[in-house]
Amino acid sequence: RVFERAYDKKVVDHYENPRNVGSFDKSDLNVGTGVVGAPACGDVMKLQIKVDDEGNIVDSCFKTFGCGSAIASSSVATEWIKGTHVDEAVTIKNQDIAKHLNLPPVKLHCSMLAEDAIRSAVADIKAKRAAAKTA
Ligand code: FES
Ligand code: FES
Repeated sequence: RVFERAYDKKVVDHYENPRNVGSFDKSDLNVGTGVVGAPACGDVMKLQIKVDDEGNIVDSCFKTFGCGSAIASSSVATEWIKGTHVDEAVTIKNQDIAKHLNLPPVKLHCSMLAEDAIRSAVADIKAKRAAAKTA
């Protein structure tokens, strides 16, 4: 029965044991911060990255005020981007996250938050570094 459709167990796992929950110091020059909201539901996700001089993401964390799918999506996103280069991280698509978590179509916008948050965090660190260079 439709109303009994359970979340995929990966979603439940990431929701109950979210990886990388936390915050980095926003003012740190090696930290990029992305804060994005979902127009569809009003939920908010903050995702942060710690980046070395070569542009590699050495650490990542998130805080999400949102549904289970959004929390699971951000948890997966932080796992996936750790160890990647920022230019690689921005190629992660919400469809990849949604597919990994078996999100139903009505929950696609929740994984969109994670894609947007990654892009926003990368844009932030790039802007910060560009500003530091010209300062
Ligand atoms: Fe955690 Fe796949 S179940 S990233
Ligand atoms: Fe808002 Fe999922 S319902 S992010």
